[in-house]
Amino acid sequence: MRKPITTITALVILLALGVGASAAQARAQDSRAAQDGPLQARVRGNPQPAWPDEPLVTARHGMVVSAQHLATQVGLDILKQGGNAVDAAVAVGYALAVVHPCCGNIGGGGFMNLHLADGKNLFLDFREKAPLAATPDMMQNAAGKVVNGRSTRTYLGVGVPGTVMGFDEALKKYGTMSLAQVVAPAIKLAREGFVLEPGDVRIFNTSTAYFRKYPNVGAIFLDHGRPWKAGQILRQPQLARTLELIEKDGTRAFYDGPIAAAVVKASRANHGLLTLKDFRDYTVQWQKPIECDYRGYTIISAPPPSSGGATICETLQIIAPYPFAKWGFHSAKSTHYFVEAERRAFADRNTYLGDPAFVHNPIGRLLSAEHAAELRAGIQPDRATPSSQVKGSLGPYQATDTTHYSVVDDKGDAVGVTYTINSFFGIKQIAGDTGFFLNNEMDDFTSKPGVPNQFGLVQGKANQIEPGKRPLSSMSPTIVLRDGKLAMVTGSPGGSTIISTTMESIINVIEYGMNVKQAIDAPRIHMQWYPDEIFAEPGAFTPSVQSALGTMGYKLRPVHSMGDIAAIVVDPRTGLLESVNDPRYPAGEAAGY
Ligand code: DON
Repeated sequence: MRKPITTITALVILLALGVGASAAQARAQDSRAAQDGPLQARVRGNPQPAWPDEPLVTARHGMVVSAQHLATQVGLDILKQGGNAVDAAVAVGYALAVVHPCCGNIGGGGFMNLHLADGKNLFLDFREKAPLAATPDMMQNAAGKVVNGRSTRTYLGVGVPGTVMGFDEALKKYGTMSLAQVVAPAIKLAREGFVLEPGDVRIFNTSTAYFRKYPNVGAIFLDHGRPWKAGQILRQPQLARTLELIEKDGTRAFYDGPIAAAVVKASRANHGLLTLKDFRDYTVQWQKPIECDYRGYTIISAPPPSSGGATICETLQIIAPYPFAKWGFHSAKSTHYFVEAERRAFADRNTYLGDPAFVHNPIGRLLSAEHAAELRAGIQPDRATPSSQVKGSLGPYQATDTTHYSVVDDKGDAVGVTYTINSFFGIKQIAGDTGFFLNNEMDDFTSKPGVPNQFGLVQGKANQIEPGKRPLSSMSPTIVLRDGKLAMVTGSPGGSTIISTTMESIINVIEYGMNVKQAIDAPRIHMQWYPDEIFAEPGAFTPSVQSALGTMGYKLRPVHSMGDIAAIVVDPRTGLLESVNDPRYPAGEAAGY
């Protein structure tokens, strides 16, 4: 029996290791342009957050927020040098591959959501693809049983990486700087090293046993066999060399040169399927983002092969008529209707969505007012609907570690990037001396209909493995506009919980009138159809709400933390940019000028 929610368990362990005074806070004293004092979260049921108090940061010209402070500073420097949000986003992406190697990557893939100052909305899909030799049942043994760990910890879990081509495409089309300019800070951080903070080391500590298992990984991510400690310097000369190859030869080095060759060699030696043709054939694509209206705002989010935009918009359409602000944040009533809406939207997600190059995604019907009304009518006013009574509801089918960062520049261009190698450190293996971790994105496919993946998602045939197909994602880099003008850039890691975390950050601002700090500090909840439980952070509910939910038939799954929002909000009164580091990841930073 596979153990579901392993990434969530990892986050629980990670955060249970203790959160002391925030190093990011100390840095903030001297490096932040402006900050408000700590604000009391106007949030019922969150009397004592388990994480440190991070300051609200405001800026006039530009802002970067990411899960690692050195990467944030790289982006800020690029903006100050006159680079635009795309230049900064690519520079931050390469820097995170060095200083946040669990999640930042060149061995994975992701999505970039762009709102340009001239009003254009663009979406770049650089999601990994299944190797050409992949088959629907490759994660199962001869008896048809899904083999534990095959899709997460072996080379069979690796999809063809998209990050390097995605960044190259974004930079060429919409950037102003050269690849050499934006990769240079990452090369320096890899070659000269950087000082590890407690927040960095805590993430490494989740995977020490794996670093010990693979000598070429341990040679970098262990200090003579022992875990690195805060205050020590981590140098990554192998990764520096790989980045220099990319700087010199661009995508050719990665997709048709020494880097592809090294990955294919390691894959072959470890029973993987990757070939040079997989790398040569890899493509990225510009797509039309998913758009919907919510309370006078326009939500612009990720289209398939991400389920993020469709599931966020379907949920928002269902809840739109309900007066959540009047009912109260995480009151029994607003929770009930939010959770029932999510249950139904996730049932549709898990049943119908998949790579649009392979399956028809009925987005128009899923996001129609009629469908929302039908689903709303099925919600009972005073009790939970068991997930077993909720099906993907369009009739028979016809046809999750990650990181998010946000950038806004002084012209008003906004970029949100969510990219991933899936689990922390992907398959936890590095091909030869390439210095970067490879993704385990193949676990995002349906290994077998009805069998949960590592995020507990029970998915169907639309997302089965096929050669060259992109696995269905939950990554949801999202941009919110008001009257065509930027209001918010937001997104998060967290596997399937990304969708709820991202959506709650938006609802908290739009519906409950919270500022960005309050919206991010607020405890989070999540429901994904199966398991039939409400995931809830500590303090998500008051004891009386918790007991009311129990009476209505809800089961709670306590989780220590969900996600790591990197959001920038534009204050509609002053036009100032506002952000905050999500305290759940204390190594991160929001900074502006
Ligand atoms: O694309 C997805 O939905 C997953 N691969 C994301 C993985 C993730 O967020 C893990 N992070 N905690």
